[in-house]
Amino acid sequence: MAFELPPLPYPKAALDPHVSAKTLELHHGKHHAAYVKTLNKLIKNTEFERMRLEEIIQASSESAAHRKVFNNAGQHWNHSFFWKCMRPSGGGKPEGALAEMVERDLGGLDRFRESFIAAGMDRFGSGWAWLVVEAGKLAVISTPNGEPPMVSGRHALLACDVWEHAYYLDYQNRREEFLAAFVDHLANWEFAAERLELQGEGSYTAARAYDEAVGRHVRSGRSDEAALAARRAFEGPEGDALRRAEAEGRRHSRGEDRRAAAAAAAGSRVEGEGSYSAARHARSGKQGSEAAAAKSAVEGSKGAEHRRAEAEDRTRSKGEVSGARSQGPGARKPRS
Ligand SMILES: [Fe+2]
Repeated sequence: MAFELPPLPYPKAALDPHVSAKTLELHHGKHHAAYVKTLNKLIKNTEFERMRLEEIIQASSESAAHRKVFNNAGQHWNHSFFWKCMRPSGGGKPEGALAEMVERDLGGLDRFRESFIAAGMDRFGSGWAWLVVEAGKLAVISTPNGEPPMVSGRHALLACDVWEHAYYLDYQNRREEFLAAFVDHLANWEFAAERLELQGEGSYTAARAYDEAVGRHVRSGRSDEAALAARRAFEGPEGDALRRAEAEGRRHSRGEDRRAAAAAAAGSRVEGEGSYSAARHARSGKQGSEAAAAKSAVEGSKGAEHRRAEAEDRTRSKGEVSGARSQGPGARKPRS
């Protein structure tokens, strides 16, 4: 659904003489309306079309390709917020928790006034001056162009538009006078206090939703089932495989596998030497006579016993001997 220009919360002439009806007519009826119209055009048939305004702002904030969407969405949010930050016969002072925070975090209302006007004045070019909550404390900041404080994780309480279109008809180049008029005669501290409460409610709501979700999970018994399944897996065959893999990892990290590889390489050198000995043996002519002796032994009375011994050696070399041992001392037949 397309965004709509929200109506002003007061008649156009209500803020006069600090902001004239003519300024509001142009600022709200032309500038803000143009942001809404452009935003709707930009998001049509895109992934932004079904998002809430805040979601569009966050989703487009870091992409150069979506800069136009971000600018127009930000300006729609900022202006909708700004109209509520002013009221006829505004200014004055905050009350309650907000007043305490202004004192505690900003050094009092006079200091707030100074820093808010300075923030608006120091913003080179177009932008906004803000009173925000940042990490649980009040802070005065400014943002460039159409950037709302939510982009940097801050919660806005009050805003003043310092684009020239906000004040030029009434103050021409005297931005400082406009900022002073905003703080002294227009600032809507009741709205700022509502925003502060909303911040508290937001945190409270999130904490409550988390607690409820955890409670539902525990009550459903799923957490117990998951723990039990993990325990069964660890104690069963899967656990054995895991422990073997873990032990192998430890050996690897200690370099034992490298030592084993070195030992194997040494063995292969012996084997090579054995081959060399056999070759030398063959050249000497002894090979034939020894082969004939071995053949007669295998085929003779001791042949069967030799074959059994040979089979037993093979078994041992494959590690099967440990299984044979477990069958008891009588499982192995001694060699003669
Ligand atoms: Fe504006």
